[in-house]
Amino acid sequence: MAPSELSQTLVSLNRPITRLKVVLSAVLISLSTACVKEPDRAIEPIQTLTAAKAQEVDYPSGELQSNQTHADAQALIKLGPRVAGTPVMEQASSYLIQEYRKAGYVTEVQPFTYEKFEDQGSSLTANAAPIKGRALNGSIAGKLTAPLVVVPNVGKPADFASVNVKGAIALVKRGDIPFAEKARNAAAAGAIGIVIVNHQSGEVFGTLGSPSTIPVLSVARQPGERLIEQARKAALQATLAVNTQQRTVTGRNIIAHREGVTQPRVILGGHYDSVAGSPGANDNASGTAVVLAAARQLSSTPLADQTWFIAFDGEEDGLQGSRAFVSSAQPSFLSGLKAMLNFDMVGVNDRLGIGGTSSLTALAKSTAPTINTFGSHGGSDHAAFAAKGVPVLFFYRGQEPNYHTPKDTVVNPKLLNETTQTALRIVENLLKEGEK
Ligand code: BES
Ligand code: ZN
Repeated sequence: MAPSELSQTLVSLNRPITRLKVVLSAVLISLSTACVKEPDRAIEPIQTLTAAKAQEVDYPSGELQSNQTHADAQALIKLGPRVAGTPVMEQASSYLIQEYRKAGYVTEVQPFTYEKFEDQGSSLTANAAPIKGRALNGSIAGKLTAPLVVVPNVGKPADFASVNVKGAIALVKRGDIPFAEKARNAAAAGAIGIVIVNHQSGEVFGTLGSPSTIPVLSVARQPGERLIEQARKAALQATLAVNTQQRTVTGRNIIAHREGVTQPRVILGGHYDSVAGSPGANDNASGTAVVLAAARQLSSTPLADQTWFIAFDGEEDGLQGSRAFVSSAQPSFLSGLKAMLNFDMVGVNDRLGIGGTSSLTALAKSTAPTINTFGSHGGSDHAAFAAKGVPVLFFYRGQEPNYHTPKDTVVNPKLLNETTQTALRIVENLLKEGEK
């Protein structure tokens, strides 16, 4: 059904229609980013001047839209975990491409690669049951059995000088100096492996910065301290198993825009990948579906000439997709952006929150006064744009218990719809503001 037919249906069903007056003035559209075009849709760089005109636009809203948005989220969730670089992502991206095309947009796939470090299960076993640990990011793999030697303090060179770790596994407490330095000191003193005991509760998700020459494992405080005590009392043999792998991942951003629109003023985006083991409903089928919903609603309006929609890949591996996007974009493309709006975790929790550049949070607040303002705005794809000086607005509904777990399976359609409508009003005001 074409958007105009959809509006007609909604009118005849007596559902609410939001009327919007949009004034479009001359917009110089220039190129561009370095995206890979789909073979059947090569888009030539263009310089176009669109004429100024005033138009009345209907945004259909209500149950029908909400159902479609929920169906989009469900379609992604039912694929299971959407880990970047896995075959599931081909299905997820095909779905998005198909839906954006149905909504009247052309799509571009932007592939990018990065190195991914994975711990496939690492442990330390001394006399009793294995203690599960976490390899530090950048640790080499290895399995070795050797005496376990407790190193006093935190593993500075002087600490290593007070014990003999030659051919041994060094047991060191976390703190004071970087992990990489502890590992270097251990290797320099002749240790063949190092185990770092956390000094606070919880797991350590540490990173070495540069690859280590010996296996480096972190263990939780409680079992680690017990082991330190045991090893101080009697000589202990231990087996250190660090099972890590480094592989090259190919991620794919999906970019949708109206044909010929090469210089958007606004980008709406959200990541469509998830962490391993989680179906990523709220994080972030929710944001992906909201961006698609906004695209559908804008497709029949002139605002679509100023907007790009992006589903980012590899966010969970460190904002890889958004970083790849901004680093391949021309500086003039980025400086032509009035805003990047990022949607991440918008399907659970009643209160919608925003964070980001103060001028945009102010605009959002004046558009939707009930919106919550968050101070920090790191941890998601807008950060890559903010780092390049693009004004950003981050939409999210706060932390929730199922975050990054297999239980992240549900999104609330009403909340998705509310987010979409609020975002559209903000986009509308933002683009209107630019015309003044
Ligand atoms: N969706 C989260 C970010 C987030 C967390 C939004 C909590 C709202 C509430 C995102 O997918 C994520 O997990 N980010 C990581 C950092 C990223 C660089 C891997 C995070 O926040 O730890
Ligand atoms: Zn996440």
